[in-house]
Amino acid sequence: AATLASAAFGGGVIAQPVVSFDAEGRPVRVPGGLGTPRTRRDGPLKVRGAARFAAEHSFPGMVYGALAYSTIPKGSIRTLDTTAAEAVSGVLLVMTHANAPAMEPPEPFYSSPTGMAGSSIPVMQSADVHWNGQPIALVLADTQENAEHAAGLISAEYDAAPAVTSFDTAAANTELGFHAGRDLRVILGDAEAALAEAAVSVDVEFNTPQHNHNQIEPHAVTVAWQDGMLRMHDCTQGVDLSAITIAKVFGISPANVHLTAEHVGGGFGGKTLWQYHILAAAASQLAERPVRMTLSREGVYRVCGGRAPTRQRVALGADRDGRLRSLIHTGTTMKIANNAMTESFMEASEHMYRADAMHLEVRSGILDMLGNTFMRAPGSATGTFALETALDELAERLEIDPVDLRIRNEPETNPTTGIAFSQRALVDAYRDGARRFGWQTRSGRRLGRSEGEWLVGTGMAAAYYPYKRFPGGAARITLHGEGKALVEVAAADMGMGTSTATAMVAADLLGLPYEGIEVRHGDNTLPGALIAAASQQTAAIGASLRAARIVLVAELAALVPINSPLHGLPANALTMADGALVALDDPNRRTDLADVLARSERGVVSAEAEAPPPTEWTTDWSMHSTGAVFCEVRVNAITGELRVSRITAVYDCGRILNEKLAASQFRGGIIMSLGMAMMENTYLDERNGRIMNPSLAAYYMPAHLDVPEIDVAWTGVPDPQAPTGARGVGEIGMNGPAAAVANAIYDATGKRIRDLPITLDKLL
Ligand code: MOS
Repeated sequence: AATLASAAFGGGVIAQPVVSFDAEGRPVRVPGGLGTPRTRRDGPLKVRGAARFAAEHSFPGMVYGALAYSTIPKGSIRTLDTTAAEAVSGVLLVMTHANAPAMEPPEPFYSSPTGMAGSSIPVMQSADVHWNGQPIALVLADTQENAEHAAGLISAEYDAAPAVTSFDTAAANTELGFHAGRDLRVILGDAEAALAEAAVSVDVEFNTPQHNHNQIEPHAVTVAWQDGMLRMHDCTQGVDLSAITIAKVFGISPANVHLTAEHVGGGFGGKTLWQYHILAAAASQLAERPVRMTLSREGVYRVCGGRAPTRQRVALGADRDGRLRSLIHTGTTMKIANNAMTESFMEASEHMYRADAMHLEVRSGILDMLGNTFMRAPGSATGTFALETALDELAERLEIDPVDLRIRNEPETNPTTGIAFSQRALVDAYRDGARRFGWQTRSGRRLGRSEGEWLVGTGMAAAYYPYKRFPGGAARITLHGEGKALVEVAAADMGMGTSTATAMVAADLLGLPYEGIEVRHGDNTLPGALIAAASQQTAAIGASLRAARIVLVAELAALVPINSPLHGLPANALTMADGALVALDDPNRRTDLADVLARSERGVVSAEAEAPPPTEWTTDWSMHSTGAVFCEVRVNAITGELRVSRITAVYDCGRILNEKLAASQFRGGIIMSLGMAMMENTYLDERNGRIMNPSLAAYYMPAHLDVPEIDVAWTGVPDPQAPTGARGVGEIGMNGPAAAVANAIYDATGKRIRDLPITLDKLL
């Protein structure tokens, strides 16, 4: 079994511990092992209030920061009156561009491998204004209340410059999208000609609005300059990247930044490095006092970006039997001039369906707005909505069941690159989902029914998310005492259970009990340059731990006692299992770890290593997670009220490492997608680029009554190319449900809504 597992998980010098598989290649559950539905380790701490977040740390002599925001989108500050603010009791400092220290502009994502900022706009270095809501002053005071009060007394006059704040204006002048190192255009054959010749076609436009982040924990940071070090308690998704980026802003070495983020209250792509961090550190330097900066909910909308709006065309042409001849997915999104964050909505269309000809292209218009950023399943969330709704329309015209249409177009290899899939059991997910949901096969006809004044319908969509693993991850494993290990990795846990999953993977790799594994994370002084993003952190940690275990086994091999049956065996003939060092080819040849550790200095053996670079998905294999989502909706014929009454989703994400955590991730993504379908909408005043609904009172998201029971399941087939057999589960839930809801609404009402959110005015 060890050999089988070794082959199944990509081999390597040291094999995976014993895992067995059933006839279908599914891993057989080892009680207590990987897959077990374990509860999050941080849960009890959070329930007791013992988990400290960024704004709950303090330093002696700490003062509080508050920001004042610009009220024009572009131009410059002519006068800034701070006298009233300075007169407020308890105010220590009012910082503006007139007295802020000189700082380099921050490096945004994609501009360098370590960029972590939302944009490269310089921070309070001049009178220039780049967006409506840009910080124009920072107040430090003895209490948060005094600081907020004083910030509210700051008044500014501006010289306004012409600004582009409307989608239509920006869309008239677009550039080809560029994202993550490539142009966002794929052309295969002549898709327009194939569309014109197709027996059956649809050609439709979709609109998705801007979205804002609303993590439970509003953004905050607590900073101090101490002993030549910049100390930050932060809420970042990438402790190393945030530390490196802010170090460059202040012209100091990253070694002189100590950043911790042990607990992060939700991230979803929005917990990165924003102007408030830099301003807090600058004010702390100027005032020579530690500073806590807590953004109000409105502050989060002014300073921390969200998901950009899109306008997408999806045109599909097919033969009568449903075979896709043409797939066109093009359109426009918005970004700012000072970042490289294009909402790449064509992604799912690149990898999901076989089509003879394709034209996929994302264009960017430039708006003068707060820099847009990642938001759960960036690109693919909005793109999947358009693609999967258009497929439903095509199924209807073809008079083919929507599940069947997708199965008929399931590709054998990646449809745009021809590269083999590492593992793909999407057809199983469709079939299992349809069975669990009780999907009624249809031939293009609506099956919706009415129950009193409620119109009831069902719909489905596919889900898609890529597999990624960022380079440079490292980990340290320290064995100390019987059955005990400390695992250290600079990862972030935003509440998704990273420390729990890391302990499980480590226990599995080290052959130790789960309870004996302590995990330290969320600290840039630990090994690892990982980021909790793109649903890749768990895979990256798995790769780092595997690399560290190779070094660890070599250390242990050198300590094997002379009377051990393992004496003289090379490290690559050994593995770890059941608290022992074990010969790979003969589990009966073994020596207890206690006997090996007894020969080490102080009974401790430690190993640190960096994961090999992630070549597995770049060239050799096409690696993607997929799934199938089914839902039932009820629409009130009189009021237009929309209720999603039932959801079933089945995912194909490789091996599931912890059933409880994974189910929560899937459900969380699905709920966020329900918000996208029904509610979420950032209202931008197109006259002046100001966000009009910067609060939870006016930006709607699903509450408990909006969320039905959600049935989730998975194929669980391990991905032979992923370090632990697992791809990722964080973001795929976001992709698919919005389209399934729209398709179910059509089934119920006959109304095809292509503009999100689907509010009741659109249903009347
Ligand atoms: Mo996720 S949007 O990559 O944090």
